[in-house]
Amino acid sequence: MKFQCGRQCRQSIRCAVGTLVVCLLAAPWASSQSSMAGGNAKPQMSEEAFKNIQVLRGIPVNEFMGVMGFFSASLNMNCIDCHAKESAGNWDHYADDTPLKNTARRMVLMENLINRADFGMERKVTCYTCHRGYQIPAVIPSLADQYGPPPAQDPDLVEVLPGTADTSAAAEKILDKYIQAVGGTQNLAKVTSFTAKGTYNGFDTEFQKVASEIYAKAPGMLTVTNHLSAGAATTTYNGSEAWIASVNEPVPMILLTGGDLDGARLDADLAFPGMLKQNLSKWHAGFPAVTIDNHPVQVVEATAAGGTQVKLFFDKDSGLLLRATRFVDTVVGHIPLHVDYSDYRAVSGVKMPFHWQETWVDGQSTTELTEIKANAPVAADKFAKPASR
Ligand code: HEC
Ligand code: HEC
Repeated sequence: MKFQCGRQCRQSIRCAVGTLVVCLLAAPWASSQSSMAGGNAKPQMSEEAFKNIQVLRGIPVNEFMGVMGFFSASLNMNCIDCHAKESAGNWDHYADDTPLKNTARRMVLMENLINRADFGMERKVTCYTCHRGYQIPAVIPSLADQYGPPPAQDPDLVEVLPGTADTSAAAEKILDKYIQAVGGTQNLAKVTSFTAKGTYNGFDTEFQKVASEIYAKAPGMLTVTNHLSAGAATTTYNGSEAWIASVNEPVPMILLTGGDLDGARLDADLAFPGMLKQNLSKWHAGFPAVTIDNHPVQVVEATAAGGTQVKLFFDKDSGLLLRATRFVDTVVGHIPLHVDYSDYRAVSGVKMPFHWQETWVDGQSTTELTEIKANAPVAADKFAKPASR
């Protein structure tokens, strides 16, 4: 059964069927900007796509899967640690209830309650605040931690030092150096499309290399297809909307919303970086010195069209982009996703990365290209909504 239902209506249905406690604690996340899609298409909601959703209702499927990644990262658990063992390789069994799933539901409500009661609805406390990578949070402070060496700084999480003056000019300088490093504005403007081939491997291929193909067209259209053993996994950004159509997802076609849509747009923008400065806004620098793989990097931060924070890490010597990190908002907290770029080679006077590794809370994958053909013709239908699996 399908019907039009706004936020109030959804909430009252939930209250009618749920317990009083659920009603009192229910979060007003239908209003969160992370739930909004770009374009006009309406995303499929969690309770429409899945069978047994009691708490995380009213959010798009991509955001729901982000929440699952957020849980996994916060408690350092695999998906099937919380879900029934039978879920391995069988999406249907993810609907089965387990004691840990039920505890996790209670924890979502607790998180909302704490943030509502003590932090004026701001999401100051998340699963990670307490769990910090452990299934059971620690309760006793550790003397070994107190007196031992401080843990290494995670470059993704560096913050601008408080009291730092306007750093937009410093950010612009770092970006200008990057544009020069990859070939300069004129050379960049001459590449208006490309096709590429190579291999992809990740959790979803059990780290076996499979064929990967890429189609890109300026400004900002990008389609990546990885040929998994069970069939294709395609991500498309058409300039305003993005989809994932994959044999490996629980839902055959996922319309990306919120931070995931911003992320798809960022990937497309980075394929033609000449317009990067214009495509993101609120550029600033002023971060403490950090390294990635022992390379000192310069960090700039900017905001994507949908409000997502993005950090870019440029090699201090070469000026090339080594990492792009985005912080995708979900109803339980922001999830980081970063892409590490390497093996830059000149293609038609423009340096392009032939190797990248994508890391997020739900997996890690590597793409290695064997060829990029600059200005190869790309048919417009390559950026149409992909065919469902
Ligand atoms: C900390 C526990 C926990 C972990 C780890 C976890 N999940 Fe979940 N999962 C839940 C809970 C709780 C629900 C039900 C949410 C609700 O009722 O609102 C759920 C529901 C689901 C559903 C919907 C099933 C249905 O049809 O109702 C899917 C699909 C799913 N999870 C996938 C995953 C994947 C994939 C991972 C790993 C990236 C994962 N989960 C990790 C707790 C967890
Ligand atoms: C305010 C602190 C706090 C927050 C926030 C929090 N938890 Fe917990 N969580 C705990 C504590 C404490 C326990 C252990 C309770 C016990 O020992 O029985 C626990 C236990 C759990 C367990 C059961 C572990 C086990 O092995 O029995 C799961 C699953 C869990 N939390 C998931 C989550 C998720 C998912 C979130 C975010 C939505 C979250 N928690 C947020 C404090 C927190």
